[in-house]
Amino acid sequence: MIFSRVVGTGACLPGAPISNDDLVARGIETSDEWMIGRTGIRFRHYADAGVTTSQLAAKAGREALDAAGLTPADIDLLIVATTTPDMIFPSTACLVQSALGVPAGVPAFDVQAVCSGFVYALTIADKFIRSGSHKRAMVIGAETLSNILNWEDRSTCVLFGDGAGAMILAADDQPGVLATAVHADGTQTNILSANARFSGGKGIGSPLVSMDGQAVFKLAVRALEEVALEVLEIAGLSAKDLGWFIPHQANSRIIQAVAKRLDVEMDRVVVTVDRHGNTSAASVPMAMNAAIRDGRIRRGQNVLLQGVGGGFTWGAVLLRY
Ligand code: UT7
Repeated sequence: MIFSRVVGTGACLPGAPISNDDLVARGIETSDEWMIGRTGIRFRHYADAGVTTSQLAAKAGREALDAAGLTPADIDLLIVATTTPDMIFPSTACLVQSALGVPAGVPAFDVQAVCSGFVYALTIADKFIRSGSHKRAMVIGAETLSNILNWEDRSTCVLFGDGAGAMILAADDQPGVLATAVHADGTQTNILSANARFSGGKGIGSPLVSMDGQAVFKLAVRALEEVALEVLEIAGLSAKDLGWFIPHQANSRIIQAVAKRLDVEMDRVVVTVDRHGNTSAASVPMAMNAAIRDGRIRRGQNVLLQGVGGGFTWGAVLLRY
């Protein structure tokens, strides 16, 4: 039987950390106390002007290749999850393919599932590998959300940050990915969106993020609990079997609520939202990379990854590291 296993991870966090007080100094009506109490966010990072999503993605991808002891020529599938591509087309994945020197002919494409994008992309890569058609996939979540934030809206602009996380999955006869599940509910498109669209060749509407925070909060907690139980059941495991839980990093209160519902102690939950803010598709691979590099996640441990976000979309990947 063919499984897909994580053989390397990498990340790229651009620029210096921006504190809540830095945002206040920039004229945003917020406070360190509100941010820490309502979101858990202390810092986020922003890419410098001119630095693109594909550049962050390529750096994270290169670091993941180094960690795996592989070269770009070893990759036969490249998927980038992003909501902030460099351009309408070509895809960010094709730009990364060129930047890294992943060979021509290797399929490369973007996945758009907003903050669930990485979990969607990992699910797709796992299915490619399990089918036997591909052997080594580079899967990246990368965002420059700072480009689409409404700086007049303090209820959203303070939450998000930029970054990229990458994972190399390789075919193996041992697991690997144990279970995946992805879902969407298109009746909820209005609660989290960036509404610009193209019509007659022109961009119309606002490309900036808008969100009904409380509606997203409630749906997120419920969806994350349900999808965690779904993948645990598929794998025949319980929450007690988890070495680490890595939910989407949007708000520490959401993370704590889901962990409590699943009966997972917070010392087994990877939290980076305090340092990274919400980096959408990049949040989960960056968190996993951080916990691998600081020695918390060890080989053989079960790790539950989760995404949730605009669409409305949500999903989970349960894997043995
Ligand atoms: O990645 C996709 C998934 N996204 C999420 O999961 C986000 C989910 N939602 C949330 O995390 C939370 O709903 C927020 C952090 C966005 C907001 O927290 P909340 O506890 O739901 O606050 P709220 O919207 O009910 O606002 C409470 C108060 C309001 O003031 P009043 O009306 O009570 O006087 C807001 O105006 O907080 C005020 N407020 C702020 N105050 C200081 C809103 N934003 C800020 C701010 N600084 N940045």
